[in-house]
Amino acid sequence: MISIRNASYCYPQGERPALRNINLDIRENEILGIIGRNASGKSTLARLLNGVVIPSTGQVEIDGLSSAIPENRGLIKQKVALLLAEPDNQFVSNLVEEDVAFGPENLGLAPSEIRRRVDTALQMVSMEDYAKYPPYLLSGGQKQRVCIAGLLAMRPKYMVLDEPTAMLDPQGKKEVRKILGELKEQEGLSIIIISHDLEELLQADRLVWLEQGQIKLQDSSRNLLARVDVLRNAGLGGLEISRLIEQLNMAGYDIPSDILSPSELVEELCRLR
Ligand SMILES: Nc1ncnc2c1ncn2[C@@H]1O[C@H](COP(=O)(O)OP(=O)(O)OP(=O)(O)O)[C@@H](O)[C@H]1O
Ligand SMILES: [Mg+2]
Repeated sequence: MISIRNASYCYPQGERPALRNINLDIRENEILGIIGRNASGKSTLARLLNGVVIPSTGQVEIDGLSSAIPENRGLIKQKVALLLAEPDNQFVSNLVEEDVAFGPENLGLAPSEIRRRVDTALQMVSMEDYAKYPPYLLSGGQKQRVCIAGLLAMRPKYMVLDEPTAMLDPQGKKEVRKILGELKEQEGLSIIIISHDLEELLQADRLVWLEQGQIKLQDSSRNLLARVDVLRNAGLGGLEISRLIEQLNMAGYDIPSDILSPSELVEELCRLR
């Protein structure tokens, strides 16, 4: 479990705290979504989780390891992998498999173990056929999948994804989205995803809404995604289906606003007939 207690953080040059009095637990094997407007502190929170940012006050513990203790930070970075939005800035090698091997090599593992980890990680993201490709020949979605493989090869327990599909086209978004669900179900990872993409957030178990460095609200993603008013305040438009329900209700229907999938809506409409 990752536990954050009364954590605040102010950047050395920051005028006001980027995070204020954060209290949050991240459990094993859950997907936690983080939403909020620009500059609300989402990326700072991501870096707080893997020990790159150390709280100015309060504390962060990853499986009982406090990030305030310098000796813990190596292990914390191994446990908590961080993926950023731009895949291109995350490649260090000219070959997909070498790139995925980079992390495990730095751990000083035996070559046979590295080989095994690289092959398994590439299979997990369905990129094994591209092992010998240079990363620049890949599509955005494929690049991001290779970056995810690079993180998986480190065998993390938690994966923090900071707007992982922001730069991707709809196909790329879909590819990455599919993998997130699989990682939770098959690998038992905890995933923390920062996103402005509601379809992506639908996969989350819980959502946290950050505003001006504070947690404004947290709830199950089902409850929160059904609240178009909250989503608008968080700078998100609301799911397409919620807007459709809003319009149907303005036209005289009485459809519950917590319907989040087309199949549920169809069922409800059939019931109404
Ligand atoms: N390196 C830094 N030095 C000083 N202030 C910073 C630094 N990085 C971020 N900040 C400030 O901290 C606050 C939170 O920034 P952060 O990047 O965490 O927001 P965010 O929610 O990730 O925004 P976005 O949606 O634009 O990615 C902002 O006011 C920002 O200006
Ligand atoms: Mg950010």
